[in-house]
Amino acid sequence: MTAIPLETLVTVFGGSGFLGRHVVRALARLGYRIRVAVRRPDLAGYLQPLGWVGQIHAVQANLRYQASVEAAVRDADVVINLVGILFERGRQRFDAVHAFGAEAVALAASAFGARLVHVSAIGADECSPSHYARSKATGEKLVLAAVPSAVILRPSILFGPEDSFFNRFASIARFSPALPLIGGGHTLFQPVFAGDAAQAVAAAIEGNAREGETYELGGPQVTSFKDLMRFMLATIERRRLLIPIPFALAKAQASLLQLLPQPLLTPDQVELLRGDNVVSEAAKRQGRTLAALGIDPLAMASVVPSYLWRFRKAGQFAQRTTDDGRQTTENGPA
Ligand SMILES: NC(=O)c1ccc[n+]([C@@H]2O[C@H](COP(=O)([O-])OP(=O)(O)OC[C@H]3O[C@@H](n4cnc5c(N)ncnc54)[C@H](OP(=O)(O)O)[C@@H]3O)[C@@H](O)[C@H]2O)c1
Repeated sequence: MTAIPLETLVTVFGGSGFLGRHVVRALARLGYRIRVAVRRPDLAGYLQPLGWVGQIHAVQANLRYQASVEAAVRDADVVINLVGILFERGRQRFDAVHAFGAEAVALAASAFGARLVHVSAIGADECSPSHYARSKATGEKLVLAAVPSAVILRPSILFGPEDSFFNRFASIARFSPALPLIGGGHTLFQPVFAGDAAQAVAAAIEGNAREGETYELGGPQVTSFKDLMRFMLATIERRRLLIPIPFALAKAQASLLQLLPQPLLTPDQVELLRGDNVVSEAAKRQGRTLAALGIDPLAMASVVPSYLWRFRKAGQFAQRTTDDGRQTTENGPA
C-alpha cells in the first residue's frame, strides 16, 4: 500500500533542473517531503518557495560519486532520477551520467528498498547513431536490471518557461536574420509541457503507472521542426528566413559550434535530429502514454506565448488585437 504523502520522503536527483522544478512543485502540492539531490545545493534556493517551510530540503550529490548517491537515497521511500546532459564536458560524459550514474541511483534505491521513477528520453536506442540516445538506452537497461519495478518515462522535447528549445531559438531570432532547418527541418517532434511530464512523474509515484513499464510522453501535436520554428516566429512576431541545411553540412558546422562554452549545436545533436522524436505506435497500442496516466496534455499554443512574449520587439508592451477587436498588451494567445 502506498504511504500517505506526509510520511513519504522522495529524493529527486536533478531537482534543480528545468523539469526538476516542475516535479518538485507537483510533489510539494501533493504534500510529499522532498529531498532534492543536487551538485550545488547552495544554488538551489529557488526551490524553497515551492513548498512550505521545511518541506523541501537540498543535499549535495553527484551521480558520478556512488557514496554521495547512497547518502542522498538513505531513508527515502521513493527516488526520482531526472539527471541528464545535452553535451559532454570534462568528466560529465554521456555514459558516466546517463548510464552508470543512472545505475548508481538504481542500485542505491534497490539497497534501501525505495521505489524508482527514472526519466529517460524518446529516441533512447542502443543502436542510435547518437551517443546521447545510446547512453540513455544503456541507462534504462541498467536501471531495470537493478530495480525491475522501476517506472521509466521517456519525454519528447519539453516546453515551458525555462525550456532550452523555444527560448534558445527565439533568442537567436532576435539577432539573426535567418534560422537553420537542419536536414530540411522535416524531423517530427511531439512537444510536451514540462508541467504535464511532472504530472506523469507524480502519477507514477501515486501508483497510477504499471511497474517495470516504459511510458512515452508526448503532447497533443506532432509537428515538424520547420513548423515549430514558424510557430515560434509567429509567437514572437518576427519574420526570419528559414534556411534548409543538409545533415552533413550541419554536422560540420556543429563540430565548430560545440567548442562554445554553451554549445548551440553539437555533432551528436545533429545525429539525434535524423530520427523523429514522437510517441511510438507500440506505446499508444500498449497504453504507455500520458493518456494512460490520466493526463490530458496542454497544447503549445496555450503555454508558449505566456513566456516567449519577452522576445517580441516591444516585449510585454507589444500591442495586439484580440479576436473581438480589442487592443491589448496582454501576453498569451490572442
Ligand atoms: N528538456 C528536454 O527537452 C528533455 C527531453 C527529453 C528528455 N529529457 C530528460 O529529462 C531529464 C530532465 O531534463 P531537463 O531539461 O530538466 O535538464 P536540465 O535542466 O539540464 O537539468 C538536469 C539536472 O541534472 C543535474 N545534473 C547534471 N549532472 C549531474 C551529476 N553528475 N550529478 C547530479 N546531478 C547532475 C543538473 O544539476 P547541476 O546544476 O548540478 O548541473 C540539473 O539539475 C533529463 O534526463 C533529460 O535527458 C529532457
